[in-house]
Amino acid sequence: MDPGGRSLQIAVMFELKPPDLASKAEAYTALESQLRALLHGERDFIANCANTAALLWHSLPDLNWAGFYRFVDGELVLGPFQGKPACARVQIGKGVCGTAAITGKTVLVPDVHKFPGHIACDAASLSEIVVPLIKGGDLLGVLDLDSPKLNRFDATDQAGLEKLAEIIIAASDW
Ligand code: SME
Repeated sequence: MDPGGRSLQIAVMFELKPPDLASKAEAYTALESQLRALLHGERDFIANCANTAALLWHSLPDLNWAGFYRFVDGELVLGPFQGKPACARVQIGKGVCGTAAITGKTVLVPDVHKFPGHIACDAASLSEIVVPLIKGGDLLGVLDLDSPKLNRFDATDQAGLEKLAEIIIAASDW
């Protein structure tokens, strides 16, 4: 019995759909709807990053890390994530995260061992994608996904994750 209906609402919010849809692109379209619903009514950036990290971790296959670094006082500082403990700070221009931050472009790395300057927080990581979060020209941070599989991420992942990044940015205040 739940007079306020809150339990029901939360249960629906956290119903994570498995990626059994016809295509990866369709799976990302479904994730967009889930993320909008999950972030609805909350404007706090850290809370929204935390819920996004959890959604991605439980929805996307073959990940060993999913989370955020925030741009704070000129460097990237570890934000909400799922996976093993990670490097707390990344300098702008360094590693995959710092490269995405300084270029303002998504960096897709099929094999981290071939990326000069890759920062190995978890030796299990073999491929990685980092999407910068930019609002009105300002760097807010980066979304970082790691995989224990080589070549895990492709252009469809990039397009899907960039769309999810837009949703987080639009849903949050700074
Ligand atoms: N590999 C990243 C560091 C962050 S961890 O992957 C969580 C990089 O090279 O910037």
